[in-house]
Amino acid sequence: MEIIILENPQVVYMEVASRINGQIQKKPGSILGLATGKTMQGVYQKLIATAQESNLDFSQVSTFNLDEYLGIPPDDPLTFNAYMLENLFRWINIKAENIFIPSTLPQNVDKECQRYEDLIKNRGGIDLQLLGIGREGHIGFNEPSSSLQARTRVKTLTDVTRKDNFGEADGPRFAITMGIGTIMEAREIIMVATGKEKAKIIADAIEGPVTASCPASILQFHPQAKIIIDADAASLLQRRDYYEWVYAHKKEVENLEIE
Ligand code: GLP
Repeated sequence: MEIIILENPQVVYMEVASRINGQIQKKPGSILGLATGKTMQGVYQKLIATAQESNLDFSQVSTFNLDEYLGIPPDDPLTFNAYMLENLFRWINIKAENIFIPSTLPQNVDKECQRYEDLIKNRGGIDLQLLGIGREGHIGFNEPSSSLQARTRVKTLTDVTRKDNFGEADGPRFAITMGIGTIMEAREIIMVATGKEKAKIIADAIEGPVTASCPASILQFHPQAKIIIDADAASLLQRRDYYEWVYAHKKEVENLEIE
């Protein structure tokens, strides 16, 4: 894992946005795995700004969202479909036919999950997967106790997740989510977290054991996982000085010539 600790949320969002921008410039037909949540709103704002500055072309890009609520109307403002349109898609030149999000009201849930898996596979797999992290360590909606090898399926949201996402309102209880096995097949993963409320779970995910009790800890097994966090989210890391030194000296290591 590469752990990148930056001063504040704005710098984190900018760093992630410029990596996405770089990915699309390198491969115009990139397949991106997208996440939702407050953290990603910051990332998408910066991505829209850098895309406008650099005339970034999304016309060949395809996107797969991690998850979607189940059992609410497709035009409900709570859907991730609405979130993505508002926070990213309406500001860039992505084609509607290249946007993939699980259905909120599929006729057959198992078939919908399999269809989503097949679509990802048929497009060639995800090049760059973005992840946030829930306060209890979920990635997508893979809540604690999720199988570390699961594929796309239905999960029940925990009370903590429902409170974080809906406040006191009574939001959906179920979601379709890419499984941890699906997520781990992405060629590169960037997990993003900011703020003190994420410090404990970030420490668990990076420095704790790999366990289904903290699904994000599975990233310890991914050879191209980057964790990009701000100083507050990094505040409980025991080896923080080490990660900061490594990042600050990255160029030197890359240029190292050993006879
Ligand atoms: C939601 C999403 C996750 C996201 C998490 C963190 O539950 N399903 O993909 O990572 O929230 O959200 P936030 O950035 O708002 O803390």
